[in-house]
Amino acid sequence: MPGFELWGAEERKEVNDVLETGILMRYGFDGPRKGIWKSKELEKAICKTFGSKYAHLTSSGTSALTTAMAVLGIGAGDEVIMPSFTFVASFEAVLSVGAVPVMVDVDDTLTLNPDAVRKAITSKTKCVMPVHMCGSMADMDTLASICKEHNLILLEDACQSIGGSYKGKMLGTIGTAGTFSFDFVKTITCAEGGVVMTNSEDVYTKCDGYTDHGHDHAGADRGADLHPFIGYNYRISELHAAVGLAQIRKLDQFLSIQKQNQTALKNILSQIPEISFRRIPDPTGDSCTFLSWFLPTEEITRAVVNELKAQGILAGNFYWYDNNWHYIRKWDHLKNLITLNAYPAELKEKLMQHANKDFTASDAVMSRCISSAISLLWKDEQIKEKGDKITAVVKKVLSEASVQIN
Ligand SMILES: Cc1ncc(COP(=O)(O)O)c(C=O)c1O
Repeated sequence: MPGFELWGAEERKEVNDVLETGILMRYGFDGPRKGIWKSKELEKAICKTFGSKYAHLTSSGTSALTTAMAVLGIGAGDEVIMPSFTFVASFEAVLSVGAVPVMVDVDDTLTLNPDAVRKAITSKTKCVMPVHMCGSMADMDTLASICKEHNLILLEDACQSIGGSYKGKMLGTIGTAGTFSFDFVKTITCAEGGVVMTNSEDVYTKCDGYTDHGHDHAGADRGADLHPFIGYNYRISELHAAVGLAQIRKLDQFLSIQKQNQTALKNILSQIPEISFRRIPDPTGDSCTFLSWFLPTEEITRAVVNELKAQGILAGNFYWYDNNWHYIRKWDHLKNLITLNAYPAELKEKLMQHANKDFTASDAVMSRCISSAISLLWKDEQIKEKGDKITAVVKKVLSEASVQIN
């Protein structure tokens, strides 16, 4: 997901505009900033690019999720249903507002299994949070109808799927609110940053205050602002927004390269009948940041991963099942409640239930999945070389497995 790969003069120009005025903060200093408002400009560009009525920038994707939850009234004791495969930030944000993350199974879309969501709904459920992992989407129609039926908030963690879409709508703009991350390894980057997108003016206005100590931003004098509610500091800086502004103008180019490179790699891997691919609810909406593929069994997948490693070609290919950040199997700090915060007893009890919860259905998917990250810098010959090397490894492992079976 590397916008940073195509970094250049455009980003430097935007940052220099800010450096020349010396006004690095997004609010106030109306005179000395000489008309330079990079954060506002980027928010406008986000609304236009993704078709959201409102967008509010934050300091990170994690703080964007926290902000969205707080503003949507998700708090102490509320349950948020989320997938077992995501990044730790998704549950950190839930915990940060005092709510309870309830992890449920993913299916072969690598996102929330709608049946698992249905089964997890209790009288405490307040929100369903699909995470559009690795550039592609959850089954949004089904999740939206579950939320409607049970009067739940649909909040999209679209941090990893900038530029993806579902049935014509951009990911992150379908739920009551949605978030992107602009950290250094996302499709477009600000170095650090995030955004909450929404069509609700009320949600937007509250995000604006919540991320800046509750300031109402009603007048030109920051010192005279009122505080209609308590907030925090999750502000983005003008320097970060400036980088994002240059990057968002390149998004179409990034997406088209990703699509081309992902298609080329997929064409090569498709030659092996034992390889299958991630199910994508709307294939035209894949942002193509990764190519996620499955092998027939965990044993074969592990052998392929080991062989890729042995040959020095594992880099860029991710076996999430063993990954410490992205899959519940390795979230021991969460399951054992190793935290610096004192959590209420009810929250502790519900969190610890995850240690013994049955994730067999997720394991069956994740243990057979490898995701290959798509680079913007690959040349055609490199893709062919990578694809050929991967297929040679898979063929070798499959032939050894068949010898063992026979
Ligand atoms: C799915 C998901 N959600 C949230 C985040 C958090 O974003 P950030 O690193 O900007 O805080 C990430 C970052 O990797 C992510 O992958």
